[in-house]
Amino acid sequence: MIKLGVLGSGKGSNLQAIIDAIEQGRLAAKIEIVLSDVNNSFILKRAQKHGIAAQFIHPGPFKTKLDPETEKKYVNCLKEHNVDLICLAGFMRVLKEHFLSSFKMKIINIHPSLLPAFPGLESWKQALDYGVKVSGCTVHYVESGVDTGPIIVQKQIPVLDDDTYESLHERIQVEEHKAYPEAIALIANGKISLEGRRVIEN
Ligand code: GRF
Repeated sequence: MIKLGVLGSGKGSNLQAIIDAIEQGRLAAKIEIVLSDVNNSFILKRAQKHGIAAQFIHPGPFKTKLDPETEKKYVNCLKEHNVDLICLAGFMRVLKEHFLSSFKMKIINIHPSLLPAFPGLESWKQALDYGVKVSGCTVHYVESGVDTGPIIVQKQIPVLDDDTYESLHERIQVEEHKAYPEAIALIANGKISLEGRRVIEN
């Protein structure tokens, strides 16, 4: 069974969706460890509530990345737990060389837009302000660019005339909670392979 490590900084609703999918038998996976760069974050509490190992690792001096020494701590912890796949679920830091090369094509992320539109922060605001009629979410492999890796699953929703930032984000999150377990299941069941940038279902 595929062993997962989940990294997050916030409320952990995507972690919850993964836990629910496992508990309901929709996803054959085990979450070995949940790590956070934010002490006492709700994602850690959710993990503990379900008996999953959860740990805060101090992120070091930078705001948007981990310094090399801290990356080593994250990597060592994930290796000690023997994880096969790392799922970023609202982890608010960009991973750098040591982390990426330690888990080549074994790190995936969920992003609240239809990439390549609106990478970066608060994509639902970017989408609403831009005036797009369709938005959604993307699960993708993580590489050195921000939100640029090969796309595994996307789900779309209409942007409604009376949408606010909050309502749009809320409906995108409903789709995220379907997309993330689906994407993990595709990988866990060996259903996909890479052809260049394209993720192809076998
Ligand atoms: C999600 O919107 C995800 O797309 C983004 O961060 C948010 C995390 O939400 N990368 P949650 O902590 O899983 O509720």
